[in-house]
Amino acid sequence: MTAETQAQNHFYDGWIYRKILDPSLTGIRKRVSRLIPENSTVVDIRCGTGDQLFYISRQIRAGVGIELSSTMINTCQEQARIRKITNCDFLLADARDIASHGDQTFDYAITSMVIHEMPEELRIPVLREMIRLGKQLILVDWISPQPSLWKKFSTHFVERMAGKAHYAGFRSFIKQGGMPALIKTLGLETIETQITGKGTIQLWLCKSK
Ligand SMILES: C[S@@+](CC[C@H](N)C(=O)[O-])C[C@H]1O[C@@H](n2cnc3c(N)ncnc32)[C@H](O)[C@@H]1O
Repeated sequence: MTAETQAQNHFYDGWIYRKILDPSLTGIRKRVSRLIPENSTVVDIRCGTGDQLFYISRQIRAGVGIELSSTMINTCQEQARIRKITNCDFLLADARDIASHGDQTFDYAITSMVIHEMPEELRIPVLREMIRLGKQLILVDWISPQPSLWKKFSTHFVERMAGKAHYAGFRSFIKQGGMPALIKTLGLETIETQITGKGTIQLWLCKSK
């Protein structure tokens, strides 16, 4: 944590996220886990409750989760203790400032359900930093467009509930063409892409060309 890092907490951080949102992401967590070979090193940018890292903790050599919410970091550390996971570290840090955390590199840099909520001007800088950190990237986010009107409505509802700034980020993400547009802008090569069973979330395994 840099001296200037200011934690940012939300009402849904911690147990609400762990009990309601994490279970809804089980399918995608498993898909991500299957893409990561044994003994890899992984950084999870904006790791939330640490749920994705916990899914892969037994197969990877080491993991680092970066989060700006102190409630989330406390949850990560508590869950790691309860699950006796010792190969994952959780840092209270700003993903906009991860360059200040040194030159460490990882086999995989993951970010899950994060890019859509970021202000437009931060998406490319954060993704560029992930390209520097990880040999390969795993990006998980809402699919655009959603597969049906009902799913579009429910996704907008969930995003609206997360707050005004979050929803504004989501709307601009969709308007700008979602993850495929960002992957194209960054000139990344997509090695593999998968869509969840419900058809609402997509993942991309990418690397620099
Ligand atoms: C929608 S949650 C996704 C959490 C997790 N990646 C997942 O798949 O469940 C987004 C997370 O990003 C964190 N966050 C927001 N801004 C951040 C920043 N600038 N640096 C680090 N984390 C941030 C929030 O605290 C929140 O936990």
